[in-house]
Amino acid sequence: MKLDGILSGKTIIIMGVANKNSIAWGCTQAILDQGAKVILTYQNDRIKKSLDRLVDDSIALVECDVSEDENIEKAFSQIEEQYGKVDGIVHAIAFADKETLEGGVLNTKKDGYNLAQDVSAYSFIAVSRYGAQIMNETGSIVTLTYFGSTRAIPNYNMMGIAKAALESSVRYLASDLGERHIRVNAISAGAIKTLAVTGIKHHRDLLKESQSRTVDGENVKTSEVGNVAAFLVSDLASGVTGDIIYVDKGVHLI
Ligand SMILES: NC(=O)c1ccc[n+]([C@@H]2O[C@H](COP(=O)([O-])OP(=O)(O)OC[C@H]3O[C@@H](n4cnc5c(N)ncnc54)[C@H](O)[C@@H]3O)[C@@H](O)[C@H]2O)c1
Repeated sequence: MKLDGILSGKTIIIMGVANKNSIAWGCTQAILDQGAKVILTYQNDRIKKSLDRLVDDSIALVECDVSEDENIEKAFSQIEEQYGKVDGIVHAIAFADKETLEGGVLNTKKDGYNLAQDVSAYSFIAVSRYGAQIMNETGSIVTLTYFGSTRAIPNYNMMGIAKAALESSVRYLASDLGERHIRVNAISAGAIKTLAVTGIKHHRDLLKESQSRTVDGENVKTSEVGNVAAFLVSDLASGVTGDIIYVDKGVHLI
């Protein structure tokens, strides 16, 4: 563990590592590099098997399927009991079923809408609520969003609607938690090939188009997103809250 990093002495929970390509894994490495102790939460046994191959005993693993509030409450109280208070949380979780994602927004059914909003946006509110209860006096909560929240990106569909709700939640939660000195922000990452992205119809076109629009013609890397997450959970970002920080190599601007 690095003693002179910007996160030395801090404990950070990271939610949403599925494999080594996950954005959350880029965050894990960057946050470890800055000296924090890391606790990973995982969705289910299948994901745990993949994590067991990725991490050693220095990283604690705690199960947390965010589709039920009780699971989040239970996971966080287990974390507090075993590891004490935490200083930050990175929420890198989203889901929409294939039919909903592929069907277009016009054909979105209530069940598909609710599921996507529940896992991708509401879970961030619940994570912030229960997470704030186990945080040290100053804390920082970060989520991951995408540009499809403000633009109609081809095939992003229902996930864009969920990301819009997520980004709005960031602003309200920052306001609610401000008095407790807990900051809430989102990173809007550029397109990266991960498991989640392969659920989007024609995702190769999305990745190619996005790459062609970056300033240097290369897609952003999970390590670059991770470095910004490390900054946001650190005290260096004490003046940043309620914000959406773009880590997309200029795609949303140019
Ligand atoms: N990959 C991109 O291009 C991109 C761009 C911008 C934002 N994002 C966002 O980054 C975040 C991480 O996604 P990723 O691209 O790294 O993909 P990923 O597939 O590696 O990670 C998604 C994670 O969500 C978890 N998850 C889904 N349902 C869950 C549930 N019910 N309970 C607990 N965990 C659950 C999965 O287990 C997985 O670990 C997502 O919010 C995604 O929308 C991704």
